[in-house]
Amino acid sequence: MPCRPEARPGFCLDHAGVKAWLQERDPEVLQDLWSEADRVRKSHVGDEVHLRGLIEVSSHCIRHCLYCGLRAPSIGLERYRMDPAEILACAQEATRLGYGSVVLQGGEDPGLTRDFIAVVVRAIKRDTPLAITLSLGERSDGDLRAWRKAGADRYLLRFETSDPVLYRRIHPDLPGIPSDRLAQLMRMRDMGYEIGTGVMVGIPGQTWDALAFDILRFRDFDIDMIGVGPFLPSPRTPLGGPDAGAYLAPPDDQVPNDELTTLKTLALTRLACPDANIPSTTALATLDRERGRELALLRGANVVMPNVTPLPYRARYEIYPGKACVNETATACQGCLEGRIHRLGRRIGRGPGSRNKTLCKDLTACDFHH
Ligand code: 5AD
Ligand code: FES
Repeated sequence: MPCRPEARPGFCLDHAGVKAWLQERDPEVLQDLWSEADRVRKSHVGDEVHLRGLIEVSSHCIRHCLYCGLRAPSIGLERYRMDPAEILACAQEATRLGYGSVVLQGGEDPGLTRDFIAVVVRAIKRDTPLAITLSLGERSDGDLRAWRKAGADRYLLRFETSDPVLYRRIHPDLPGIPSDRLAQLMRMRDMGYEIGTGVMVGIPGQTWDALAFDILRFRDFDIDMIGVGPFLPSPRTPLGGPDAGAYLAPPDDQVPNDELTTLKTLALTRLACPDANIPSTTALATLDRERGRELALLRGANVVMPNVTPLPYRARYEIYPGKACVNETATACQGCLEGRIHRLGRRIGRGPGSRNKTLCKDLTACDFHH
C-alpha cells in the first residue's frame, strides 16, 4: 500500500519508506533519489539559489549542550559579543555583496537583551532592504514578540532530534525550565515569523528510526526552512571527547555522521517538503570542502549562508573545529560561491527569498503534495 493514493512507486514517504531510503547504499539505486530530489527542487523552488549573510553576533552561551563547542563549560574559548554598530556594518556589507537577507546567530546569551536585539533589528530595517532571520536559541515569548515587532522576519531553532530521550540527554534543561523547541516554533509561527528548524545527522545515540521521524516531522509541522548537517565532534564537548563512544547506539542502529547519510537526509527532506527553503550547510562543506556545497545544491538544497562575520570573531565562534571558510573574507566567499553556483547552471536569487508556498493543501490526494 502506498502511503498516499498517488505516491510515486518507490517514493512512499511513510516511516518505513523514509527509513529504507536512509539505509540504501547502492549508488545506482540512489541515483533515483538524487534525480527525484533535484526534479522536485527545480519544479517547486526553481534554479535560484538564495544567499543569506550569516553574522555570528555572540559566542557567549549559558547552555550545556553535549555537542556544541560554545557550551558554557567550554574553557579556553575567547568569548565575544559584537556591538550594535558592528552588526549593522556586517548587514551593510551583506547588502553590498548582493545578499537579500541576513541571519543573526548567537549562543543563548542573556547579554543579547530584548532591547539590544530590537535596536539592532530596527537599525538594519531602517538602513537596508534585508530580510532578517534571528537564531538566538530559546527565548521568552516577550523577547520574541518584541523582535518581531521591531521587524524580524524569520527565526531558526533546530529541534536537533525528534527522539525525546536523546534530546534530553544531549540538551540539558536550564534549571526549572523544560526545553520545548517545537512549542516555541509553533508560538513563533503564530507571531508571524517564518520558522526554520533542522537536525544534525549522526549524533551519538541517533538511530535510523529517529532520523526517519525527524524528516516526517519537518513535513507534518509544515516547516518553512530546514537545515540538515552532519554532526561534527568537538573535542571541547562530551560527545567529541574520549568518552564519546559510550553514547553511541548499537552499531547497526547508529546513524553515521557521514556525507552520504547527510545527503540522503537532505534529498528526502526536499521530497517531504517540496517548497521549503533548504540550505547547503557549512557543516557539510566542512566535511567535504571540495564538493560538499555543490552536492547539497544538486540533491535538494536551494540556499547558501555565506559567513559575513568579521574575521577576528569568526574563528572564535567554534561550534566545531575546522569550520569551512573560517579565514575567507566575505568578498572572497561571495566570489567563490557565485562561481560554484553558476558552474552548476543555477542563478543567484535576488530579493529576500521568502518561502513561496506551492503546497497543495490536500495531503491525502497528491504525490509529495504536488
Ligand atoms: N556538529 C554539527 N553541528 C552542530 N551544531 C551544534 N554543534 C554542532 C556540532 N558539533 C549545530 C546545531 C545547532 C546549530 C547552530 O549548529 O544543530 O542548532
Ligand atoms: Fe567561502 Fe568558498 S564559500 S570560500
